[in-house]
Amino acid sequence: MKIVYSLGGSLLADQDRDGLLRYANELKELAKEHRIYVVVGGGRYARKYIEKARDLKVSEAFCDMIGINISKVNAILLMAALGDDAAMLPEDYFEAAQTSAPGKVVVMGGVALGQTTDAVSALLAELVKADRLVIATNVDGVFSADPNVDPSAKKYDHMTPKKLVQIAMMTEMKAGSKSAIDPLAAKIIERSSIPTAVVNGRELENLKRGAMGGHQGTEIRSK
Ligand code: UTP
Repeated sequence: MKIVYSLGGSLLADQDRDGLLRYANELKELAKEHRIYVVVGGGRYARKYIEKARDLKVSEAFCDMIGINISKVNAILLMAALGDDAAMLPEDYFEAAQTSAPGKVVVMGGVALGQTTDAVSALLAELVKADRLVIATNVDGVFSADPNVDPSAKKYDHMTPKKLVQIAMMTEMKAGSKSAIDPLAAKIIERSSIPTAVVNGRELENLKRGAMGGHQGTEIRSK
């Protein structure tokens, strides 16, 4: 199977050595049998630096640039934990596809302004014709509203790509904004009917379950 993961930056940046190694070992295990690609997000460090830059009155695109670079730093940190099992850091999608090899985990960060790493993961999944896209985040799936703000928010167990696009279109598009899902990611998932799971990546087993089934997150598929 080809599996593309979008790993929220907050999942990694808050980990100590053992935590990072746990994520790395899980991915190494998966890479023994499957082709694994991981796109790492910027997390709270990206937001922190973006805030500082915004205070200096730079543009949103400038802030995106900061987010992209912090996501790359997080990707390099995961590569440090993967050791020899990490493929060379790709600069773009085509390099990511080319550097994939049995037993190696391809890790990358952001690539282009005006989007998030969810969009990068969806585009990579589309390019390599992935069997599964797993968006591992710090909430339990896709909700009707932000569960951290609205306690009455309802989690969707299943949804169509079309519904995902509708939800994504309601989210704010500022650099570093805490969106449930990036509109570009949702549109790519829709146009290529990419089988996708949105799971809570704080529970390590969800990486495997998101790909193989049996997860408690949100499954996105056409009816
Ligand atoms: P993230 O992908 O980390 O955003 O990118 P996120 O949805 O907040 O994900 P978490 O918190 O890691 O789960 C952080 C910011 O970096 C810029 C955007 O400004 C984004 O909001 N970015 C990232 C880009 O402009 N392009 C990219 O390809 C990736």
